[in-house]
Amino acid sequence: MRITILCENTVGRLMGLGEHGFSAFIETDQGNYLFDTGSGRSVVENSLELDRDLRTIRKIFLSHGHYDHSGGLPEVLKLKGRVDVHAHPHIFLDRVHVIKEGEKETRRFVGLPFKRSYLESLGANFILNKDFMEIEERIFLTGEVPRKTSFEKPDPRLFSEIDGKTKQDIFSDDQSLILDTEKGLILILGCAHSGMINIINHVIHKTGEEKFLAILGGTHLDFLTPEQLEESIKVLKKMNIEKIGVCHCTGMRAAFRLHQEFGERFFYGHVGSTLEI
Ligand SMILES: [Fe+2]
Ligand SMILES: [Fe+2]
Repeated sequence: MRITILCENTVGRLMGLGEHGFSAFIETDQGNYLFDTGSGRSVVENSLELDRDLRTIRKIFLSHGHYDHSGGLPEVLKLKGRVDVHAHPHIFLDRVHVIKEGEKETRRFVGLPFKRSYLESLGANFILNKDFMEIEERIFLTGEVPRKTSFEKPDPRLFSEIDGKTKQDIFSDDQSLILDTEKGLILILGCAHSGMINIINHVIHKTGEEKFLAILGGTHLDFLTPEQLEESIKVLKKMNIEKIGVCHCTGMRAAFRLHQEFGERFFYGHVGSTLEI
């Protein structure tokens, strides 16, 4: 099995393009899969440079509706054609990012930037789930993640629009991918909007497995409160995690803290990083 970071904010090797976004290419004995698609500009370019053939993917998984995870979907569909796209029904909600600076309020659309019908016309066969689900043998999606920790809070800058009303985004659609290997679980996070610890606890509860071979992806740890970062690290250190390869919305400060705490077990998941087992 091999997992390659295809899209990410930073380029750490002498290849590929960085962009605000996330995507991982997953190769298994059962076939290849794509988790998220980046924001659109780098997914095809990077797949060619890294020699990962997007035409071979069996399924696409979307972690949530934000453009930086879903925006590359048309580019992938133009190459692949008809393919199952697994996601939560709320990926189609309108999403906004609101920044308040004194009197000034700036609103930016950050949702899925394409209509469902357009994506379907390019070949997307949406399969929508809300619950934990085994997609293929030993490959699972978390479904909605119960919010249980006291220290993991929603990002106050992010809103969704439901029936014309702007509300704090609770990200019911945030789901992560689990690969159940003989050496432990591999957990791939999109942005971890449900809270990284909530997600890990949900995975342990649903699979009955506590050993994580690796946790990869965006953790959103640098954008909330310092308490959330430190409390999350405290809990992570008690868990059975062999490798932690975070990136994207983790933020540099949180990544450095994780490196301090996890030492050799930490790596930064820039474009082209691979995890092979
Ligand atoms: Fe993101
Ligand atoms: Fe996000």
